[in-house]
Amino acid sequence: MKFLRALFPSRNDREVKKIRPVVAKINEAEAILKTLSDDQLRAKTAKWKEELSKIEDKVELAAKLDEILPEAFAVVKNAARRLCGTDVIVREHPIRWEMVHFDVQLIGGYALHTGHISEMATGEGKTLVGTLPVYLNALTGRGVHVVTVNDYLALRDSEWMGAVYKFLGLTVGCILHDQPPAVRREQYNCDITYGTNAEFGFDYLRDNGMALRKEEQVQRGHYFAIVDEVDSILIDEARTPLIISGPAVRTFDEQYAQWKPTVDGLVRAQQQLCARYLKEAGELIKKLEPAPGQKIENAAELERQIGLLLFRVKTGQPRSEELMKILENPQLAGLMNQAELSLHKDQKKEELYQEKEQLLFAMDEKSHEADLTEKGRNYISPQDPDAFVLPDLSTQLHDVDAGAETDARKRMEAKAKLQADFETKAQKIHAISQLLKAYSLYQLDVEYVVQENKVIIVDKNTGRLMTGRRWSDGLHQAVEAKEGVAIERETQTLATITIQNYFRLYTKLAGMTGTAETEATEFFDIYKLGVMTIPQNRPNVRKDSDDSVYKTRREKFNAVVTEIKALHAQGRPVLVGTVSVETSEMLSRMLKKEGLIHSVLNAKYHQQEAEIVARAGQRGAITIATNMAGRGTDIKLGPGVPEIGGLHVLGTERHESRRIDRQLRGRCSRQGDPGSSHFFISLEDDLMRLFGSDRIVKLMERMGLEEGEELKHGLLNRSIQQAQKRVEGHNFQQRKRTLEYDDVMNKQREVIYGFRNEIINSDDVRDRLMDIIEEVVILKVEQFTSADTDVQEWKVRQLADWANLNFPLGVPEGEIVKAAQAGKERPVAGSLYDGLSEAQFAVCNFISEAIRKAYELKVSFEEPEKLTTVERYTILQAIDKMWQEHLYEMDSLRQSIGLRAHGQRDPLLEYKAEAFKIFDELMVNIKTEICHNVFRSASSLMAFENFMRNVSTTTKHEAPPSAAADAKKASDMVSEAANDLSKPKPKPKQTGPKVGRNDPCPCGSEKKYKNCCGK
Ligand SMILES: Nc1ncnc2c1ncn2[C@@H]1O[C@H](COP(=O)(O)OP(=O)(O)OP(=O)(O)O)[C@@H](O)[C@H]1O
Ligand SMILES: [Mg+2]
Repeated sequence: MKFLRALFPSRNDREVKKIRPVVAKINEAEAILKTLSDDQLRAKTAKWKEELSKIEDKVELAAKLDEILPEAFAVVKNAARRLCGTDVIVREHPIRWEMVHFDVQLIGGYALHTGHISEMATGEGKTLVGTLPVYLNALTGRGVHVVTVNDYLALRDSEWMGAVYKFLGLTVGCILHDQPPAVRREQYNCDITYGTNAEFGFDYLRDNGMALRKEEQVQRGHYFAIVDEVDSILIDEARTPLIISGPAVRTFDEQYAQWKPTVDGLVRAQQQLCARYLKEAGELIKKLEPAPGQKIENAAELERQIGLLLFRVKTGQPRSEELMKILENPQLAGLMNQAELSLHKDQKKEELYQEKEQLLFAMDEKSHEADLTEKGRNYISPQDPDAFVLPDLSTQLHDVDAGAETDARKRMEAKAKLQADFETKAQKIHAISQLLKAYSLYQLDVEYVVQENKVIIVDKNTGRLMTGRRWSDGLHQAVEAKEGVAIERETQTLATITIQNYFRLYTKLAGMTGTAETEATEFFDIYKLGVMTIPQNRPNVRKDSDDSVYKTRREKFNAVVTEIKALHAQGRPVLVGTVSVETSEMLSRMLKKEGLIHSVLNAKYHQQEAEIVARAGQRGAITIATNMAGRGTDIKLGPGVPEIGGLHVLGTERHESRRIDRQLRGRCSRQGDPGSSHFFISLEDDLMRLFGSDRIVKLMERMGLEEGEELKHGLLNRSIQQAQKRVEGHNFQQRKRTLEYDDVMNKQREVIYGFRNEIINSDDVRDRLMDIIEEVVILKVEQFTSADTDVQEWKVRQLADWANLNFPLGVPEGEIVKAAQAGKERPVAGSLYDGLSEAQFAVCNFISEAIRKAYELKVSFEEPEKLTTVERYTILQAIDKMWQEHLYEMDSLRQSIGLRAHGQRDPLLEYKAEAFKIFDELMVNIKTEICHNVFRSASSLMAFENFMRNVSTTTKHEAPPSAAADAKKASDMVSEAANDLSKPKPKPKQTGPKVGRNDPCPCGSEKKYKNCCGK
């Protein structure tokens, strides 16, 4: 193999080779630097900073950085050399500095600077590698962000590597969860800022989506980010977007408690049903093995029947233990898979449907869906099975309109009732479906734990508790109901961004990890990040055994304990990786029974976690950790341990993704240490059940394994990897899909955040305010009038109503007609008014002028400085209110599009078209909302009242309705605006499935629903 590699160097080898000359240059430069004094070395920083600060142009800046790179890297390396022998205080403990960058680390640093992912094995010293590009790019003064997987590592690295930066005269900051905005701003103002992806992302959302004043914003741009453990952050974490949420105003939480007993019963009935099907299957299975001398009749049909029954149970009770036991028999598992395949092959899926109808509800484990069947509906509500079928609302509404009822009022009432019924039904169906999922697919101590009367999600990858995070769309409430704990209020999204889109904000992005190669395509597709595999400083001597495969989990874990015991007896430390908290705990109990002392690591604080993992290399230590816990912490071998073989890593299950397994393996054999690894697998593992191939099953069959016997073969490793690859591909597609949808929103977010920032950053927004009003006036004039018809045919009354209800104008209809008739001037081509007739143009001017006059009057009663704040606040509040509603609408849109995907149309295209439409409306809604509030806000109650008193008397009765309430609102606004506005009071509302917001309002007003009763 080595020989071949020398003959045909891979592309990666060639890339790396190209960097070698740079390495030589760096080392030459460093030799010269050795002769300088500390201060002379430091002076380089100031000189470069000065030079770089003058360069505005991005291309020029990049060229200059490339030019000084060899010397700048040399400066960092030389600083590290000068630090040797000193103690650096890291997390309150002194650490002796003994690191000078190796050549491979220089290569890694170069790769980072050029926007790559440096793949360097665990323990190669990536933390130190980071210092090179961080220093170089921080010289620009634009801020370099170093992103870590947790707060502990952010602090550790900012303190540890901070020694180098500070020595060279740069400032280092670290953002942590509980810092107030003022402190955060200071951290961002440093040359270098460490922090987790969530902290960076949430700060972005708060700055751009929530801050109401410049002083509340903490970040200062997105120039360069280096992401440590980049696969964990940009791939694993990227599955869930960052969301800031607040309590929803209208929720249906009580539904979950209300329907829990019903679903309890339903689930139990289904269990009985499944038990019956299993029994039937059992009898048929017996027939497969007839007594000697007897013949099986129609074996093929028999097998088909068995397969169908087993599949039926799997659909009805996916986590049934009894079924698992039956499926231990590879032949039977094969029959079930065949049945599933044949059902899915049928284009019309009629048989599949028939099968599902044998159950009360059907679960799809892969797609996480739950559906009530006809039988189930009958079970819940025998008198009225239609209670759970959604009616066709639009037809119903239409029928009322077309019906015999002549009284408009009664028609409106009838429609309102239809709509209310529809909503209740939809909520009911939704609650039941979420409860079914909670019961059938979410297992206590696997997907979640219950602590202190709360349901806490467990991170699938790390086994950490994700305190504070909640499943969306009522699922969390459903699980709470299932566990009988307090049901918390549903929340709604106030601001959100995917990790992908956050990191795409950076001008430059780079990353490092021990495991990137398997996901190279994704890194390139999504982030335009190339992966460069950096050679190791010292060759890796880890011994990886072939996987051991067992039939059952029980047999597997017995073997695991046996191996731990044997190694422990030799004094070797063992690190055991598990995929879930539940497995950790079970294994811990097994070890306790054997009298083996060990530490269990799950869901504790990062610092403690890091310390436990750090001790895992001591003689005789046994450490159980969930798969990725302790990522990034160093495991140093205790004295005498290298001699007996180093740390042994034992995996108790293969993870969905090969990368995570490689991470686990990489915990041992760091920096040339000895070590070994071994994975244990059973056919009952989720990976094998859901994605395993028949090949493994067949192999097992052929070998005719005895109880407790293991199967170990190179071929098997390949099959398992195939299964993993399949899952990886599946997950990638899913992430890509999510992203394609989010890209639509991302563009919208850019527009809205841009708009917000423009308002926040301008000193005077009055002009903008007037422009907005003018735009809305044009829109309204266009809505109620027409260029092609005579004034007599216009809806002048509606136009006057609109103007007088929103602004204190009191313009009579006659005035509008007069203005129209007097119109002689054509609007300038290309202006906002382009396309309007002379008459329309004149009306626009007439109304706008009236508004402007009224506003001038208002201004004369206000305190000028405060008014500016109020004006800004009026605009921001309108943006935020409408944007949050828009987020909700986009969410619903996505869900409904998902349902529409059955047809031949591409759901993404449809989503885009719809999204474009509702975004257009959003912009109009924001502006309309601003108009609505302009005269309803004031810098003080007195100003408001004075103004109201002085608006010309004729208009009084048509002034904004309920002036008193508005005065109250205006003064609220003042105090809100004047106070700290960091927490705007969100007033979101839930719009369940009902009349579409853009449908005509059922009250018969001819307005769109959202602009009328749906407001
Ligand atoms: N140039 C060097 N000279 C001596 N020791 C070094 C050097 N670089 C790194 N080390 C040591 O190697 C160990 C591992 O470093 P570090 O934790 O940065 O590795 P890593 O690549 O980030 O690993 P992981 O993938 O686990 O995060 C540390 O103890 C560090 O002190
Ligand atoms: Mg690291």
